[in-house]
Amino acid sequence: MGHLNAHNSQPLCPQRDTAILCTSRLVEEAWKGFTGAGPEADLALSALQQKQVPFLTRTFMTEELAKTAEALVAPGKGILAADESSGTIKKRFDSIGVASTEDTRRDYREMLFSANDAMKNYVSGVILYDETIRQKAKDGTPLVDVMKAAGSIPGIKVDTGAKPLAGPNSKIEQITEGLDGLRERLAEYYKLGARFAKWRAVITITDDLPSWNCVKANAHALARYAALCQEAGIVPIVEPEVLMDGAHAGHTIDRCYEVTEWTQRIVFRELYDARVALEGIVLKPNMVIAGQKCPQQASAQQVAELTVKCLKSTVPASVPGIAFLSGGQSDEQATENLSLINEIGNLPWKVTFSYGRALQAAALKAWGGKTENVAAGQRAFAHRARMNSLAALGKWTQQLEKAA
Ligand code: 13P
Repeated sequence: MGHLNAHNSQPLCPQRDTAILCTSRLVEEAWKGFTGAGPEADLALSALQQKQVPFLTRTFMTEELAKTAEALVAPGKGILAADESSGTIKKRFDSIGVASTEDTRRDYREMLFSANDAMKNYVSGVILYDETIRQKAKDGTPLVDVMKAAGSIPGIKVDTGAKPLAGPNSKIEQITEGLDGLRERLAEYYKLGARFAKWRAVITITDDLPSWNCVKANAHALARYAALCQEAGIVPIVEPEVLMDGAHAGHTIDRCYEVTEWTQRIVFRELYDARVALEGIVLKPNMVIAGQKCPQQASAQQVAELTVKCLKSTVPASVPGIAFLSGGQSDEQATENLSLINEIGNLPWKVTFSYGRALQAAALKAWGGKTENVAAGQRAFAHRARMNSLAALGKWTQQLEKAA
């Protein structure tokens, strides 16, 4: 396995000790003139460290990581996010009147993963929850092997959820937890077959929020997670989600643009500081879209244009792919927006889907918890997956949607 990029793990400066002393002085100087912490001071410090101290080490990239990342965003393929925590899947099952038990959760996910047509042709990878990566299908085959047989890569959600961020806005802002013991958990997940992982950070928009503290803390956690993943040979899906739904979703599309741009900028800065190799990640962002409660909803074309503008200004071209979350958009809206984004074209990265709700809602409903509906559930899933596959190529149309 060769190293792909030119980032050298050795200090370029032979007098490392002297150089380290020099670093401390530079850092001290960076702080002079700044009376408090804040975005400017932090940015200046980072720039100084990066520009003037080029010998800082960087995580090694392996061919395996780059290959996995590229496979996840292969043309016409996308990711199935089936990593609902026990609490979230219960809510989904409540909506169809099915009790959430270990067996019903297994039956439902087995239905999806054994939908051969959908999995083989349109689904590059599946994000699993801890319970599912250890579960076996009814016939005793591990679910991981079921999806691998269909050519899909197993992935794993490794964050342990978003919790109130201590401070003056703790009723609104959240920080994602799960870093403690993550190195050991990743080693185990790798053995269980996971080759990529997911960590979701949540950013809420209000008139005054997000706070700098919330953006910075979440971006920092994402970077620490991503570095640990790459060390373990696992591709990190980096998911900074600026929410479009929930209790505070009255913002306009322009406000979403502003916050998404800021968040992504800070995320990529933190990834750089943590020496994360961008060739071995997949970014999972929100689209730039108005909050669900905003009276002025933008057109699909506006969503596509502003999303592309925002991504082009923040996401380096070395990132192989961007796989959107659906975030509360309807099935068709998520597909149409993705297709229009790809129709714009000339994008430096592959752009595809990593949908949870927008890929599963129809299948969940058609299944309804009944064995006799498994084929209907799989058909609904295959249709949605095919529509999103077309969207990932910029080829979805309303006619094709209805023709099915
Ligand atoms: P949605 O597509 O339902 O937003 O879920 C994607 C996901 O994985 C959120 O973390």
